[in-house]
Amino acid sequence: MFHNHFDKMKNNFLITSDFSRDELKSLFELALQYKNNQISDKPLSGKSIALVFFNPSLRTRASMQVGIYELGGNAVILEPGGTSWTLEHRDGVVMDGNKTEHLKEFVQVLERYVSAIGVRTFAELKDWELERTEPVLSAFAKYATKPIINLESAMHHPCQSLADMLTIREKLGNKPKKVLLTWAWHPKPLPMAVPNSFALAAAQMGHDLRIAHPKGYSLDTKLMMEIQRQAAEAGGSVEVVNDVESAYDGVEVVYAKSWGSKNFYGNSEGDIEFRKDLRKDWIVDEAKMAKTNNGIFMHCLPVRRNVIVTDGVIDSTNSVVIDEAENRLHIQKAIMTQLIRQKS
Ligand code: CP
Repeated sequence: MFHNHFDKMKNNFLITSDFSRDELKSLFELALQYKNNQISDKPLSGKSIALVFFNPSLRTRASMQVGIYELGGNAVILEPGGTSWTLEHRDGVVMDGNKTEHLKEFVQVLERYVSAIGVRTFAELKDWELERTEPVLSAFAKYATKPIINLESAMHHPCQSLADMLTIREKLGNKPKKVLLTWAWHPKPLPMAVPNSFALAAAQMGHDLRIAHPKGYSLDTKLMMEIQRQAAEAGGSVEVVNDVESAYDGVEVVYAKSWGSKNFYGNSEGDIEFRKDLRKDWIVDEAKMAKTNNGIFMHCLPVRRNVIVTDGVIDSTNSVVIDEAENRLHIQKAIMTQLIRQKS
């Protein structure tokens, strides 16, 4: 089903907007077949997939490793600077610093062993204009001839956002919903990958998306244009509000995530100072959830209890965070299956 796209994109899974809504829906169908034990094929039989983690992980690492095993394959987990050599990704650099190996050799060598490479590489929150270009993930895609899977990059977390969309569909049905993506206070600035990908995927699925954040925390301007375009194409809508109280009115999904301001990239102390008065208002609590239309609570995890969300909300029957995490396994099995099938 992905022939045209994969021919064009070298068979990568980097961002959900590389795929049509119908293609994403096909992934959901396949993921549900895996979840309901309706298929037991082993498309990775005799194959290995490398998982390259520049940053920590629980869900992504465990679900990918288990998913590869369940598909009949073998996971090769590498942690540059930990269990493998430190990596340089820039071209033309004199490597006389603390980087031992260049990504160019790293990728070419790995490709002699494995059928695909998953990569986790967070934003460093140092240089907005650079990091919004996805320098590390782009270098992997540039040097690789085999599929690259984005396991959370500087700007996107597409495996997470598809698990999120699958969870909304399972809990509330196929029709578009009123969905709130709300910023939440956190003691330090965090990357924007999760909110970016959630907003993009929600728009692609035609949900009525409301994004609530304090002034100064807007998402990337070009991405917002793409989100608006996708929403219009899918028959949904996008609204951005700065008032946290009214943001919850009537929504069916509350998705909480903290992120750093692009105005303070390279200046985390400035962001921490800027947000110091936002703590009280921008927590997901019972009073706000009471304004929703019996809304479900979602978060990608890990989450700081009683900072991002109160115990009362995350422990309530409306919280679906554990099911959401489980769905990472099923959607990633579907993604890997399609990538390997198309490449074979
Ligand atoms: N949501 C998510 O990606 O979790 P991990 O960082 O634990 O992988």
